[in-house]
Amino acid sequence: MSKPAAQTVTITLDGTDRSATLPVIPGTLGPSVIDIRRLYQDLGMFTYDPGYGATAACESTITYIDGDQGILLHRGYPIEQLAEQCTFLEVAHLLLYGELPTKAQYEAFARTITRHTMIHEQLRRFFDGFRRDAHPMAVLTGVVGAMSAFYPDSSDVNDPHQREISAHRLIAKLPTIAAWAYKYSVGQPFMYPRNDLGYAENFLYMLNAVPTEPYVVNPVLARAMDRILILHADHEQNASTSTVRLAGSTGANPFACVAAGIATLWGPAHGGANEAVLKMLAEIGSVDRIPDFIAKVKDKNSNVRLMGFGHRVYKNYDPRAKIMARTCHEVLADLGIEHEPLLEIAMELERIALSDEYFISRKLYPNVDFYSGIILKAMGLPTSMFTALFAVARTVGWISQWKEMIEDPSQRIGRPRQVYTGAGQRDVVPLSERG
Ligand code: CMC
Repeated sequence: MSKPAAQTVTITLDGTDRSATLPVIPGTLGPSVIDIRRLYQDLGMFTYDPGYGATAACESTITYIDGDQGILLHRGYPIEQLAEQCTFLEVAHLLLYGELPTKAQYEAFARTITRHTMIHEQLRRFFDGFRRDAHPMAVLTGVVGAMSAFYPDSSDVNDPHQREISAHRLIAKLPTIAAWAYKYSVGQPFMYPRNDLGYAENFLYMLNAVPTEPYVVNPVLARAMDRILILHADHEQNASTSTVRLAGSTGANPFACVAAGIATLWGPAHGGANEAVLKMLAEIGSVDRIPDFIAKVKDKNSNVRLMGFGHRVYKNYDPRAKIMARTCHEVLADLGIEHEPLLEIAMELERIALSDEYFISRKLYPNVDFYSGIILKAMGLPTSMFTALFAVARTVGWISQWKEMIEDPSQRIGRPRQVYTGAGQRDVVPLSERG
């Protein structure tokens, strides 16, 4: 831990003289943590925190979130400044190496990433094994998991050089794999990456171009895509990142760990929400049906949630959602879309939700996924690709957090404990005697 314990907390078991005195460790920003590593030894007890809402599982210098204020910092820089002033590759460098690159570092990093965008030709054939209607996230999980079989020369987690190459390979190849998952689903030829294009431009090119005609990437869409990638690049110890860290804590190779992260991201409560938002908006269908939908969301028995709203950490407007909403208007204006019914429904839904007691009292605000789907739809991406795009962006976050974990001497294999509430010890009755 970076700073020495400034205070201690003493926990006493009521009615006994047993107690534990635990160090309090301050962070640079945000709440301090109680170091409970000696708790079991001193008090014979574990802590109980399903969903880890009050548990810091690691020390990290990458991302800071103040959920009450709606603040997101990467290595200290506000997300608003990064989204406005930097490219995705600058942010990727920042997350991976700790600093924004100098001009020379940027050129070298961009060159390295660009030169790693092709995937092994034999890995290309892997796609043929999937059904045409396979969800892109299923393809992504499978192909990324298979990368360890193709790149064993960068799978040794104990070699810093190999760790760096695997990080470069993952950041570079994910757009190619995701774009090919899409091309496979629509039966079009795979488009090989183009080294003369920027990261987001090349991704749009591989998604949209066909070999039979020239394809010019719209610069406004390329900038919007770059910004979407920045907004999704990292987000502290969320479910998929924690999965990557947990998998990595066993010494598993980085490709396997990132595949585990992709699988976790797929869920509708996490990265799958952007796809779910669009389905929800389409189902609502028109502004006049919003009150009925809101009533369903508020009905405890309905199990319906307002997708793209609420967040485990943000109890204020997600700062990424604000930038996303602005980008959404820019993209629609550039594409000459004056009337987008889904955007109109989303804006009215947001207006009603932000003034409704149910959402106010629970501090439910739009999150990053609320507007992203509308932008991606306007760009021509099919709904099933939305979460795959999130995975492309989050890969740099996953691999930066994985690298930080491997390099942290205090990290051990992740192994949570439990409070056992099952049967006490009992004897087996032979099958013949069991009624
Ligand atoms: N719509 C309606 N009610 C909600 C919603 C929602 N979207 N989110 C939370 N609530 C209610 C919930 O019913 C509960 O009410 P009560 O106290 O009366 O039981 C209260 O708010 C607290 O909810 P929770 O489930 O304990 O909160 P959580 O921190 O466990 O869940 C969440 C966070 C993101 C899973 C949840 O807000 C949610 O399901 N949102 C919709 C899915 C979504 O948009 N996910 C994307 C998250 S941002 C991108 C990412 O990180 O992947």
